[in-house]
Amino acid sequence: MTRIALATAVAATGHDEDMPALLHACARAGLQAQALAWDDPTVSWQRFDAVLLRSTWDYTERLPEFLDWCARVDRETILLNPLPVLRWNTDKHYLAELAARGVATIPGSFVEPDMEPLPSLQAFLASHAEAAEFVVKPAVGAGSKDTQRYRRGQEFAAANHVARLIDAGRSALLQPYLPSVDRDGETALLFFDGVFSHAIRKGPLLRPDEGATDALFAAESITPRTAGEDEKKLAAEVLAAMAAHLRLDAPLPYARVDLIRDQDGSPRLLELELCEPSLFFEHAPGSAEGFVALLAKRLAPSRAKRASAL
Ligand SMILES: Nc1ncnc2c1ncn2[C@@H]1O[C@H](COP(=O)(O)OP(=O)(O)O)[C@@H](O)[C@H]1O
Ligand SMILES: [Mg+2]
Repeated sequence: MTRIALATAVAATGHDEDMPALLHACARAGLQAQALAWDDPTVSWQRFDAVLLRSTWDYTERLPEFLDWCARVDRETILLNPLPVLRWNTDKHYLAELAARGVATIPGSFVEPDMEPLPSLQAFLASHAEAAEFVVKPAVGAGSKDTQRYRRGQEFAAANHVARLIDAGRSALLQPYLPSVDRDGETALLFFDGVFSHAIRKGPLLRPDEGATDALFAAESITPRTAGEDEKKLAAEVLAAMAAHLRLDAPLPYARVDLIRDQDGSPRLLELELCEPSLFFEHAPGSAEGFVALLAKRLAPSRAKRASAL
């Protein structure tokens, strides 16, 4: 029987809402799957035919350690998430690379550790006259952690936020706040093996005048959503640009494209999640089974390859 490890994190234990459905679907498909924490040093990853990242959500504070772990797993067995994808997608600088390839992203500016926070912020605001509010977030981040929404007039507080990030050696990303999210939420489109599976709506997460969360699991309000044709089109463009940029020759096991509509109603890329996205199986009946069927197909040749290499 094929053995697959589903990588979570010690801190995420019990919080991965996809995991029960995933384990169940694996069992029904004849895959022997086990959820294990990436940061549990007692795990022997080489005992598995393959490892798939799932809820390794706490790596943002220790990215080099996490990427080293990924590289080690990739040497010891088959890591189903390609390393170049992980290196690229764990840092929101990828958004600038996709924008340079013509993808409609939320327009953003990075403040790097060697830059001055307040003048950088003022320059950003001067070039975004349309934005009544803006967002400061870490370039390496997840789960809205250390992300905050500000109004014009709160430049000093926002610059202090940027300064805290860059003093910690992190880069900050500034974006206009797209107010459509308050009414319409964001749309996340899920792709398995490059094929669209389902979409969900995620309610707004940033409240005005509320400090940044440092919880690993901010409460999210998720409901099923029918993705618009324009959203599907943009998501396909995002995936094509990513594959061209990274010169991938095969689709990824999963990809999630998160979009928010701008002032004109056009969808824009908020985030492309390739490493450890929630897949929202619970909100799309049959989606876990569909994902696992593709996973099983993917594993059949890799298991044979591993057997012949041993
Ligand atoms: N530019 C933006 N406009 C509106 N809402 C935003 C914007 N940037 C972030 N948000 C809100 O903050 C949340 C977290 O930001 P996101 O870029 O998805 O980072 P991550 O999920 O990696 O922490 C989003 O789900 C959204 O609710
Ligand atoms: Mg997000």
